[in-house]
Amino acid sequence: MMLQGWRWALLTALSSCACLTGCEEGADPKGGDDAGVGADMALAPDADTLGILSVQETALAREMSPMPPIPGSPTNDYADDPAAATLGQKFYFEADWAGPLQMDSRLGQEGEPGKVSCFSCHDDQTFGSADNVGIGSRFHPRHAPGSVNAAWYADAGFTWRGRFDVMWALPRAVFEAGAIFNSSRLRVAHVVFDQYRAEYDAVFGDHPLPDLADEARFPATGKPGDESWDGMAPADQEAVNRIVANVGKALEAYQRRLQRTESPFDRWVAGGEPLNEAAQRGFSLFVGSANCVLCHSGPFFTDLSYRNLGLAQTGPNVPEADGGRFDAVGAIAGDPFNGIGAYSDDPAAGQPFIDGVEAQTDALMGRFRVPTARNAAISAPYMHAGQLVDLRALVEFYDEGGGPAPTGVIDPSLVPLGLSETEKNELIAFLMALTGDPVDPALTQNTANP
Ligand code: HEC
Ligand code: HEC
Repeated sequence: MMLQGWRWALLTALSSCACLTGCEEGADPKGGDDAGVGADMALAPDADTLGILSVQETALAREMSPMPPIPGSPTNDYADDPAAATLGQKFYFEADWAGPLQMDSRLGQEGEPGKVSCFSCHDDQTFGSADNVGIGSRFHPRHAPGSVNAAWYADAGFTWRGRFDVMWALPRAVFEAGAIFNSSRLRVAHVVFDQYRAEYDAVFGDHPLPDLADEARFPATGKPGDESWDGMAPADQEAVNRIVANVGKALEAYQRRLQRTESPFDRWVAGGEPLNEAAQRGFSLFVGSANCVLCHSGPFFTDLSYRNLGLAQTGPNVPEADGGRFDAVGAIAGDPFNGIGAYSDDPAAGQPFIDGVEAQTDALMGRFRVPTARNAAISAPYMHAGQLVDLRALVEFYDEGGGPAPTGVIDPSLVPLGLSETEKNELIAFLMALTGDPVDPALTQNTANP
């Protein structure tokens, strides 16, 4: 119905245009009744559509902008607490809790402690990384995605494989991962006690810090499996776990403030300055023949699903194989720091997510979370191991119908696109219009306590 109405308006507009060009000389543009009616008709499609977009494309554009408000984080009572965010920023830049490096790198020499912070790997314009894979205590098997806008992944889970149901659960794992901080929860708790005691107690006053100076109760380092940890009193272990969970909650509060949501695309859809025509055509391709919208749909430009694009495991320090989603699903429900665990502020609110995690079937092999296409122009390299160096490589990859699927089965919707050079450029021009305004510069400062 709508389309027919629009077609009719377009035909009317075209005929009136023909008249306007054909009759220009004689007619007074602001003159007689006929010219006035014709001009109004000509405006009709413009009022309903954006630029060169069709009615259907315009409707899609309006589904994809603006970004919705940030999703809640009901299992973290501090998620939107400004004092927690201020403390979280300090924690994001804190390196003292890092264990010894396991290799020489730009971070320092093998054996040196205190050299890794969140910002070591999340340091570019989206608080992601320009390296193909993360460089921490040693190489991480995957690329570091951005903290910017990450809160909007809540319904899918966090990381490429969706290993974490809640954002605050991630730091505990990252601290203790050999490849990242190579540290332990006890070591983290001691740094909080030594350097952040007053600020921590001001935010998390319900559970003030225990006396971590007592090294008989609280050894300097240790995590489950280590003698130092396993010999502790259960109540003291619990107290340390809570500190590390709260560090995660403060870090989440900070990261929720890292947003780049207002882009030229959003301003155009809202009635502001139009995108250049190449970018407009790029949008038509994105939602049309290039079919990107099949997976990169909605205002966050992702359907939050897990898919296999058949990407080869290539690039410096990239492991030979990666099971992706398959390897992650089994670990989510049993993580003591998840949204239904002892440190959750609302286990009932965390339950539906856990119930929705897929069973571990072969179909999940080689699948990774569909990331947002927002801010793509400032977040190279792309994909879970940073395999694609720039937007051109990315568009070429899709044009060829995806990769050779080294693990699992490639998504059946990926087919060669047969894009012309012009069309590739148009897609890139559109992706470039998805760059959001920068975050508040105050949020990029290293505020860690000395
Ligand atoms: C060694 C580099 C490195 C360090 C240090 C590091 N990260 Fe990451 N981060 C990564 C990588 C790699 C991933 C993706 C992991 C995966 O998919 O398995 C990631 C994923 C994430 C994500 C998930 C984003 C998303 O799109 O779902 C968040 C949030 C995050 N990191 C925050 C942090 C915080 C907070 C710290 C500090 C406590 C930290 N990272 C330290 C490399 C790092
Ligand atoms: C079948 C679903 C699907 C389709 C269709 C699809 N993508 Fe993707 N896209 C993904 C997945 C999944 C990833 C991450 C893959 C990985 O790391 O293994 C991704 C990654 C990306 C990224 C990288 C984001 C980052 O942070 O690294 C961009 C940009 C992107 N796609 C744009 C596009 C464009 C443009 C098209 C159309 C030409 C398209 N996608 C079509 C599923 C899809």
